[in-house]
Amino acid sequence: MTAEPNEAAVRLTGVSKTYGRGRTAVAALRDASLTVMPGELVAVMGPSGSGKSTLLAVIGGLLTPDTGTVVVGGVEVTALSRGSRARYRATRVGFVFQSLNLVPFLTARENLLLMASLAGTTRTAARRRAGNLLAELGLEGRERDFPGQLSGGEQQRVAIARALIHEPAVLLADEPTASLDTERGYAVAVLLAREVRRRRTAGVLVTHDPRMASVADRVVRAADGSLTETADAKAG
Ligand SMILES: Nc1ncnc2c1ncn2[C@@H]1O[C@H](COP(=O)(O)OP(=O)(O)OP(=O)(O)O)[C@@H](O)[C@H]1O
Ligand SMILES: [Mg+2]
Repeated sequence: MTAEPNEAAVRLTGVSKTYGRGRTAVAALRDASLTVMPGELVAVMGPSGSGKSTLLAVIGGLLTPDTGTVVVGGVEVTALSRGSRARYRATRVGFVFQSLNLVPFLTARENLLLMASLAGTTRTAARRRAGNLLAELGLEGRERDFPGQLSGGEQQRVAIARALIHEPAVLLADEPTASLDTERGYAVAVLLAREVRRRRTAGVLVTHDPRMASVADRVVRAADGSLTETADAKAG
């Protein structure tokens, strides 16, 4: 499952997805292609309804496109059976959403260990990684706090740590900073970019905020289901 050094971590080719049929059909993705290298963070920007969340769902194996192929870490996700796709999601993909989705009755650390156990990480390795990740994300001493005892920014950092605990091939973040104020949001985006680079994970960050997008290596525009590479390189 390990990819060659110069091999793309994520490769979408000619992906289309239409919801519904007939007069109510909505083309959410139209012939979309995208390549993300290991350790690269790509920001996806575009208006509401342009297909950004659908793109993440397709990469994450939550949704099967009508046409095209999705290859992640050398595995053709679009060719997997339903069961293998569920396994792919649990072991190879990390998700961070706008809404926090932390389990409220589990501590920060337990939220991480739950994800690790779903991915089949051994208990000992999971405990070690949970401690390291939480410390790296500035949450040392907060491991035993429940989400309700943490600030929005701290909770979002727990969510990032949880998305990384099983060493996914791809980290998918859908407006992960939208519920935070500008400064905290930016700090979370910077952390996300740093973790993607240092772990050689491919990252796709959906955001409406140009400042968040500036932490990415590349910005891709989504418009009416089509993706276009933009010339504006990383700003900071
Ligand atoms: N389950 C669904 N059934 C029908 N149509 C859907 C479904 N999910 C999304 N759509 C439609 O597909 C299009 C793309 O939706 P998508 O959620 O990917 O957009 P988005 O770029 O993430 O928007 P936003 O910025 O508002 O989150 C929209 O027109 C939306 O209404
Ligand atoms: Mg969306």
